[in-house]
Amino acid sequence: MTDNNIKARRKSRRGVLLRVCKYLFAHKWLLALAFFLMVTSNVLALVGPYLSGKALDAIELGTGSVDIDTVIKYCILMAVVYIVSGVLSYLLAVLMVHISQKITYSMRKELFDHLTELPVGYFDTHQTGDTVSHISYDIDTVNASLSNDLLQICASIITVVGSFVMMVKISPVLLSVFLFTVPVSIIFTRYKTIHIRPYFRRRSAKLGELNGYAEEMLSGQKAIRAYGREDVITGRFDGKNGEACDAYYDADYHGAVIGPAVNFINNLSISFITMLGGILYMLTLIMGASLHPMLRVALSDVGTFVQYSRKFAGPINEFANILSEIQSATSAAERVFNLMDEAPEPLDAEDAVVLSDVQGKVDIDHVYFGYVPGKTIIKDFNLNCKPGSTIAIVGPTGAGKTTVINLLMRFYDIDRGAIYVDGNEIRQVTRDSLRLSYTMVLQETWLFCGTVYENIAYGRIGATREEVIAAAKAARIHSYIETLPDGYNTVLSDDGVNISKGQKQLLTIARAMLSDSPMLILDEATSNVDSRTEILIGEAMNELMKGRTCFVIAHRLSTIQNADRILVIRNGNIEEQGTHDELMKAKGFYASLYNAQFE
Ligand SMILES: Nc1ncnc2c1ncn2[C@@H]1O[C@H](COP(=O)(O)OP(=O)(O)OP(=O)(O)O)[C@@H](O)[C@H]1O
Ligand SMILES: [Mg+2]
Repeated sequence: MTDNNIKARRKSRRGVLLRVCKYLFAHKWLLALAFFLMVTSNVLALVGPYLSGKALDAIELGTGSVDIDTVIKYCILMAVVYIVSGVLSYLLAVLMVHISQKITYSMRKELFDHLTELPVGYFDTHQTGDTVSHISYDIDTVNASLSNDLLQICASIITVVGSFVMMVKISPVLLSVFLFTVPVSIIFTRYKTIHIRPYFRRRSAKLGELNGYAEEMLSGQKAIRAYGREDVITGRFDGKNGEACDAYYDADYHGAVIGPAVNFINNLSISFITMLGGILYMLTLIMGASLHPMLRVALSDVGTFVQYSRKFAGPINEFANILSEIQSATSAAERVFNLMDEAPEPLDAEDAVVLSDVQGKVDIDHVYFGYVPGKTIIKDFNLNCKPGSTIAIVGPTGAGKTTVINLLMRFYDIDRGAIYVDGNEIRQVTRDSLRLSYTMVLQETWLFCGTVYENIAYGRIGATREEVIAAAKAARIHSYIETLPDGYNTVLSDDGVNISKGQKQLLTIARAMLSDSPMLILDEATSNVDSRTEILIGEAMNELMKGRTCFVIAHRLSTIQNADRILVIRNGNIEEQGTHDELMKAKGFYASLYNAQFE
């Protein structure tokens, strides 16, 4: 990695931490309470060794006499101090869980809200499973770290500083041992944490990939079985699983080394302290008052000092352990923030008008568009349609029919040219009002987990039960719904997997029937429905299309014969246009497509 890269990384990590802190500071009063609890409980815990030293002092080694009252007094005091400290740290832990859950909630909400603002193109280019893992796993990791690690770090700081002060008071000479061991463990942990960071970033990324892959494969079970590709799929999964485990192993391995190594250094320092303490005690006994006061120690001092030194070293050891957790939390937070920073759909133009009372005049003027720069799919597309007219778009697969719809709905912005609705350039219109002026029925149906009734009523806020049933009747799905065990209250499982594709499409058509938008888009809306039902729906469709501007895409050309204008698209160009009769007479591409149906 170059120096610049490292600097950029460091800066971005600082940015990530700052942003996490912003979430924390939203709960500053709770945080202040947590801080108070933490300080009190840790300071109380620090008093413990001091009291035990006092109890030891009550035993006079030379004579063997014991001031039992004093010993009992300090023992009781010690018990009280430790109990209060324990209760406070319990309260603190509960409070932190509370705070971190609040933060998780707001982070998830913010992320999900942001997802709804992303352009459609984002979802066309990112794996759903990976995105889902940001909402669940990554936010969870950040949360776990907030509720545990943050607290531990603060507590460690207090304990380390407190023990240090106490040790200085007892014997600065004994403290010299740490001059050697502390720098060694700090340098070691510092080196290690920098070293393991990339491993944790890789670990999160690999898990996201694994999730994405699993999601893709689980949703494609039928195709996988039909092609007998279970082995290939499991093989690939093994690969991805292996990579994820390797990444986990690497990260945890490098993280796990730190703990024991630091522990070893600390044990070493305790033995040095005991040795040096023993020597100083012996010198004190032998030389008495002639020994320099700095070097003089009582036996109780050595005992208390060792207790504080354990307290002092413990957090440094723990610190190393939680650093690895913080590493993974930082990478997770980084991924969450990256997603939050994905550019949302650009804001509507400042002077954007709200389309209202739409007549349905649509004009497309020299439009060029490509999904990826340099690869134009729609070239110089022109079209003028009168309000209430029906425009059929036909053409071979991949010709760009759906792309035209994407542009009409402004799911993607055009590269050149302009599209007008009722004379308003659509980039000068609010997206919401533009999209609400269309009703769309697509080949890929989307139903949500809810009742049949709710799924149809989704078409218009405030639709009455009678209207919902009338729509279902028009879509020729009413009698089927009646045969369901709970009728309109039957719950559709996830995306309506418990009903057929055609039935799903009919439900979405019923939903569209409810909508009162002035314009209609049907993209292969009846492709999964049998021909007879299609003709029956056709009548209802004609009713639906009356007075509305309609864009109909259909592969079955029989369904669009009555369109006011048929556009034949090939490679993003309008190759022919006219009514069915005109195009048949012209004996061009349309005629050949049409005749091919009967061959
Ligand atoms: N999100 C996307 N990103 C990049 N390219 C895309 C995207 N969606 C479609 N394309 C490409 O644009 C071209 C036109 O696709 P489009 O979906 O408009 O075809 P279509 O005419 O609707 O075909 P079909 O009859 O199969 O529905 C295709 O070559 C396709 O590969
Ligand atoms: Mg299409």
